[in-house]
Amino acid sequence: MQGPKAYIEQNKDRFLNELMDLLKIPSISADSAFSHDVLHMAETVEEALKAAGCTHTEICETDGYPIVYGERTIDPSLPTVLVYGHYDVQPPDPLNLWTSPPFEPVVKKTNLHPNGAIYARGASDDKGQMYMHVKALEYMVQNDKLPCNVKFMIEGEEEVGSNSLVTFVKENQERLANDIILISDTGMIAKDVPSITTGLRGLSYVEVEVTGPNRDLHSGLYGGAVANPINILAKMIASLHDENNHITIPGFYDKVQELSKEEREAMAKAPFDLKAYQDEIGIEAVYGEKGYTTNERNSIRPTLDVNGIWGGYTGEGAKTVIPSKAYAKISMRLVPNQDWHEITELFSNHFKSIAPKGVTVKVTPHHGGQGYVTPIDFVGYRAAEKAYEKTFGKTPIPQRGGGSIPIVALFEKELQSKTILMGFGLDSDSIHSPNEHFGVENYLKGIETIPYFYQYFTEMSK
Ligand code: BES
Ligand code: MN
Ligand code: MN
Repeated sequence: MQGPKAYIEQNKDRFLNELMDLLKIPSISADSAFSHDVLHMAETVEEALKAAGCTHTEICETDGYPIVYGERTIDPSLPTVLVYGHYDVQPPDPLNLWTSPPFEPVVKKTNLHPNGAIYARGASDDKGQMYMHVKALEYMVQNDKLPCNVKFMIEGEEEVGSNSLVTFVKENQERLANDIILISDTGMIAKDVPSITTGLRGLSYVEVEVTGPNRDLHSGLYGGAVANPINILAKMIASLHDENNHITIPGFYDKVQELSKEEREAMAKAPFDLKAYQDEIGIEAVYGEKGYTTNERNSIRPTLDVNGIWGGYTGEGAKTVIPSKAYAKISMRLVPNQDWHEITELFSNHFKSIAPKGVTVKVTPHHGGQGYVTPIDFVGYRAAEKAYEKTFGKTPIPQRGGGSIPIVALFEKELQSKTILMGFGLDSDSIHSPNEHFGVENYLKGIETIPYFYQYFTEMSK
């Protein structure tokens, strides 16, 4: 019987080609023009699960995009691993910044990835990482190494808020019963510095609309005498941070879980190169909340950011106009124990309260979710740690992540199980950006590491 390494070596070209085929499908959940492709993607994932060894698969219809379910039960008395991932991707725009088309995957060699990286939208987030689990299952089934039961739940609405999954999880608690949830949809510190994500931030995403006059006005005739909604919106947004970059919304920090001195010291030990961090994204200095390090600012601290702002005239040339309306999309990343409904409410009330007379303000919540922290002293974490030790020869570093996978907190609430976030992506993968890519070695290392998690988790659960 062979280990995963030998099996991967024999099959790596096929593993790569299969992933490239998935990456050709533009399964963009945010854009309804691609709904046919999203549905096609769901069918393709179902076939892949079947081919890898799931004995039962199903496309579960929802009010939105379907959830692909698969399972292989070998013995009900053994533990069950539930794998979650998503088959939808972010829109690829701006298209002109891609060096190769987003849905025509190619392998390119880079300094960081001398053995190549797969360039395509979804390569790292999350098709590549999701597919590692499918290929790990194939290895285990083909080599008689599957030590426990496995269930797969792959959704198509993660990038737009997982609305259908929320209902699905609440209605299918028995079917989804498991001992541990396993997700690869996060990153690791560096290619040779394995880490396990022990926390995710929550999210509150809102859209604001500021309305002034009932129509666009001549900016000479009316300028100076009427509130300009864009000027006002800019002022209101600027006032949401003080000079120390603290958020000024009353009550915003009330429930924020502060870390102990020891926890912060442990965090500071993780390797971090500020210069490399700045260079990689082309900035000369970092910026953020006073009193916190870069790694704290982007993981254990809440934030408020404008994601987009528009209104008035943005076409070619100049048009002299005081616009009737101004808009912005604003996201707040939250940390344990902030509640996203409460924060949305606090934001909404505060934002309306700071609007001057002469404009009206509308706040529309989009979606959100709670943050998550996982302990490191339980069998799930220890099994993951041992799996990385086996394949990387190093103990992985626990690391709080800054991104959000809102469904993880819901899994804990509805399914009473913990999640292990075994991510193999890198910050430099450019997820959600042009030229997203996933290192070939990262992909193969993931496929190699996952089966050991199953083995150790099953052994340690006895
Ligand atoms: N995979 C990401 C989340 C992520 C990436 C977490 C890297 C940690 C490290 C996920 O697909 C994502 O993009 N989530 C969204 C939230 C969602 C509600 C749209 C996010 O974080 O913006
Ligand atoms: Mn993702
Ligand atoms: Mn994403």
